[in-house]
Amino acid sequence: MTKGMTDGGFDDHGRFRLVAPGAAPEPRCDAASFRIDPADAVDWLGTLADSSVGLAVTDPAYESLEKHRAVGTTTRLKHSRASHNDWFRIFPNARFPALLAELYRVLERNSHLYLFCDQETLFVVKPLAEAAGFKFWKALIWDKEQIGMGYHYRSRHELILFFEKGKRKLADLSVADVIRHPRVRGGYPAEKPVAVSELLVRQSSSPGDLVIDPFAGSGSVGVAATRLGRHFLGADIFDQAVTAARQRLLEAGARSDDSRYDAARR
Ligand SMILES: C[S@@+](CC[C@H](N)C(=O)[O-])C[C@H]1O[C@@H](n2cnc3c(N)ncnc32)[C@H](O)[C@@H]1O
Repeated sequence: MTKGMTDGGFDDHGRFRLVAPGAAPEPRCDAASFRIDPADAVDWLGTLADSSVGLAVTDPAYESLEKHRAVGTTTRLKHSRASHNDWFRIFPNARFPALLAELYRVLERNSHLYLFCDQETLFVVKPLAEAAGFKFWKALIWDKEQIGMGYHYRSRHELILFFEKGKRKLADLSVADVIRHPRVRGGYPAEKPVAVSELLVRQSSSPGDLVIDPFAGSGSVGVAATRLGRHFLGADIFDQAVTAARQRLLEAGARSDDSRYDAARR
């Protein structure tokens, strides 16, 4: 752990810890609220007003996920917690311009967007996000600490593209661009660890802010937001994911409440 850090940091094994031992816990707003809708991401974003959102952290079902599925993860996906389907619906690359334009529109003036993806999708998303108005800072590396399936250089990491609208300072300038945390095993297909999203939410928002994820899946970003006292709005096109994510957020202590959505609506 880096000496003097109050906001978490990396332990001796290079794993991120949210709060340094002895550090004062971050103030929480009581009972963060949430709402998750069964909806298409772009349509759902279209219901929100301009500049109504503090932070977006999202993990689209990008096209090249189909390739990852083809190299051996199908069995695990068949037994996912939230569904009995083999896989979720894919979001076509051709729809990224509309998605990124909507994300840029709904985000507040000085705010951040984090988008999980692989290297192939990086090359698709980066120029489109820049065309939508975002500044691209860099691709953070999520190091899963163990190699996955494959027949070539086997994947051990995913990318998290870090974009900015206007100018916003990160909460902690001593955090590295490699985030080490094991993958989620046996969960929702392509589920992301809550701890990884907690780092992003902590870095780019404040307690009481509104965090969104239009591809909410099992609700991992919502749980991260809840734990840190942020309000959460999400959407997913898959009804069973919405049901599972709602349940998960209730269990995390969030309050199901429409008022933040009503306030953000256009
Ligand atoms: C990679 S998963 C998200 C996983 C999530 N980050 C988690 O930790 O559980 C992508 C999600 O996008 C959803 N999805 C696919 N197409 C969509 C669309 N057009 N609008 C909204 N959600 C969509 C899928 O149902 C799936 O749950």
